[in-house]
Amino acid sequence: MTTTLLVLGSANADLVVEVGRRPAGGETVLGGDTVVLPGGKGANTAVAAARVGASVSLVGALGGDGYGSLLRESLESSGVGVELVKTSSRPTGIAYITVTPDGENSIVVSPGANTDVSASDVDALSFDGVQVLTCSLEVPLETVVHAIDAAAAAGVRTVLNLSPVAELPADTLARLTVLIVNEHEAAQLAPTWQDLLKLGPKAAIVTLGSRGVAVVAQAGTVEVPAVEVDEVVDTTGAGDAFAGALSARLAAGDTLPNAARYAVKVAALSVTKSGAQPSYPTEAEVSALG
Ligand code: RIB
Ligand code: NA
Repeated sequence: MTTTLLVLGSANADLVVEVGRRPAGGETVLGGDTVVLPGGKGANTAVAAARVGASVSLVGALGGDGYGSLLRESLESSGVGVELVKTSSRPTGIAYITVTPDGENSIVVSPGANTDVSASDVDALSFDGVQVLTCSLEVPLETVVHAIDAAAAAGVRTVLNLSPVAELPADTLARLTVLIVNEHEAAQLAPTWQDLLKLGPKAAIVTLGSRGVAVVAQAGTVEVPAVEVDEVVDTTGAGDAFAGALSARLAAGDTLPNAARYAVKVAALSVTKSGAQPSYPTEAEVSALG
């Protein structure tokens, strides 16, 4: 199958531990057993897209260690193309994640191999048949900038999930089809949501957590309410699930508001289960939501 969606971004082993509360500086708390799960914003985005039917490949890097093999296998078994995931001499990226009983997480990322995703990897890409390139920022900023510029030059639509937040060159922002930010980032970037478009992207999506998302386009802003869920178990990777499902639907030809409506459902389902990738729903599970 031709790849219609390329995701450029990180792959991490998520070492997850449940804690009653987070320790303060100098303090020790005891948590539950450590669970190792496939994660990383790029890999999560690609897996979320694959689960809902996209033909997607990840552009990234893993270490030649045990976590690297684990992550590669898990990407493959989720249906993500791994031919563009290289093996680096640095260790596989690791995310140290604590989850509290309210489902909230806090994360320390050790990027390792993700640091090696480079401009020359982008130069080696073929954009033939590619509809959408989606990036996030746990890989070097200059690589992401180069990728967005190259994709735009090839006539490919570009999506940037500005997470973790970073400053992009103005001409790269102007080449974006969709900029995804959360409401705090949006407030830092522009006085109003509509003003986000003055930074250059054709459209912006402001994610509002349990309130859903706002789709900002020249024609105006459409708010897409969140889908209510019974219990929030773990919000880790919900934003990546949104970005992946949105990109999948855009690559399949949906309008941005319709893609956002679909992706909001995917994100909602993802918070009802623990972990990032293991919690992402299939197309059938999303349809069952109505
Ligand atoms: O967005 C969630 C992801 O952030 C986790 O999977 C973790 O790897 C960190 O990259
Ligand atoms: Na989850």
